[in-house]
Amino acid sequence: DPLMITDKDEMRKWSRSMRAQGKTIGLVPTMGYLHEGHLSLIQESHKQTQLTVVSIYVNPGQFSPTEDLSTYPSDFLGDIQKLKYVPGGVDVVFNPKNLYDYGNNDSGVGLDQEGGKVVSCVERSGMGHETWVRVERLEKDLCGKSRPVFFRGVATIVTKLFNIVEPDVAVFGKKDYQQWRIIKRMVRDLDFGIKVIGTELVRDDDGLAKSSRNVRLSPEDRQKALSISKSLFKAKFAAENGQNDCQELRNAVIQAIHEAGGKIDYAEIVDQESLEKLREIKRPAVFCVAAWFGNVRLIDNIEISV
Ligand code: PAJ
Repeated sequence: DPLMITDKDEMRKWSRSMRAQGKTIGLVPTMGYLHEGHLSLIQESHKQTQLTVVSIYVNPGQFSPTEDLSTYPSDFLGDIQKLKYVPGGVDVVFNPKNLYDYGNNDSGVGLDQEGGKVVSCVERSGMGHETWVRVERLEKDLCGKSRPVFFRGVATIVTKLFNIVEPDVAVFGKKDYQQWRIIKRMVRDLDFGIKVIGTELVRDDDGLAKSSRNVRLSPEDRQKALSISKSLFKAKFAAENGQNDCQELRNAVIQAIHEAGGKIDYAEIVDQESLEKLREIKRPAVFCVAAWFGNVRLIDNIEISV
C-alpha cells in the first residue's frame, strides 16, 4: 500500500531520506477523482524514476470564486483503491489539507481582493499568502483568457509541490496542453532541477477526452460533447491532407460544436511550442478547444503534424 502523507514537512523529509539513499523520485500532481488519464502519468513516472509520489490536492489558488471549487468532484477512498492496484503501485500519496495555511495570524485580507484585480479563492478566504508565480505571455491566451487567475494558481501550486517533494521528474498530461507548456517554461526560466515530461491525452472509447469533470455531464450532454473530439479528428485529417487554412479549419469545428448545442469558449490553432496563433499550418501545430456543455467546461486538443 502507498504511504499516506498529509504534512508537508514529513513529505520533504521522506523525499530527502530517499534521495540520500540514491533513489530517484517522480511526482504526479493531481486534483484527485482519478481516471485512466492520471494513471497513464503514473506509468510514465515508473519508466523515469524508481519512486513515485502522487499528490492529490484541489488547489483553491487556481479557482476564481465564481468557479467550481466547491463542486469539484472528489472520491478519496476510490482514488486510494485505484492507486493501490495501479501496475507498479505508487510509493506515496501526498494529500495535504491546506497548502496556504502557514500557521500565522496574518490573514492577508485586503491583498488584491477588490478593485478589479485578479482574485482566487485563496485571497477571497483571507489566507496569508501573497506570492504568485506568473508565466506572463504563455498564460495570457486560450484558457487564460476566460480564467485569468488559473495559470497563476497552477504555476504557484506546482512550484510549492516541487519545493516540498523535491522530485527529479514531474509528469503532466498533454490533455492540459497550455498547462504543460507553462510548467515546462517555468522550470526552464526559474532553473528548477526537474525534468518535465508530457504524456499523451487519454480518451474514452468513444473519443471523449477523459476528465474528472465528465462525471458532471448529463448523459445527453455527454453525447453532444462528442462533437468536440469528432470535429477535432476531422480537422486533423483535413490539415494533414492539405487543408492548411486555419480559419477554415476553425470554422468547421466551431460550427460542429455549436450545432451540437455547445457553447464555445475558444477554438484556436496554435504553434505547439510558443502557443502563438497560426493563420496557416506550416509548422507543428495544436488545435485547442474549450467549450461548455450545460454547466461543465470541457477542454480538448489535437496535435497536427505537417
Ligand atoms: P488534474 O486535472 O487532476 O490533472 C492532473 C494531471 O493529469 C494533469 O497533468 C493533467 O494534464 C493530467 N490529465 C488529466 N486528464 C488527462 C487525460 N485525459 N489524458 C492525459 N492526462 C490527463 O491539472 C491539474 O489537475 C492541476 O492543474 C494540477 C497540475 C494538479 C495543479 O493543481
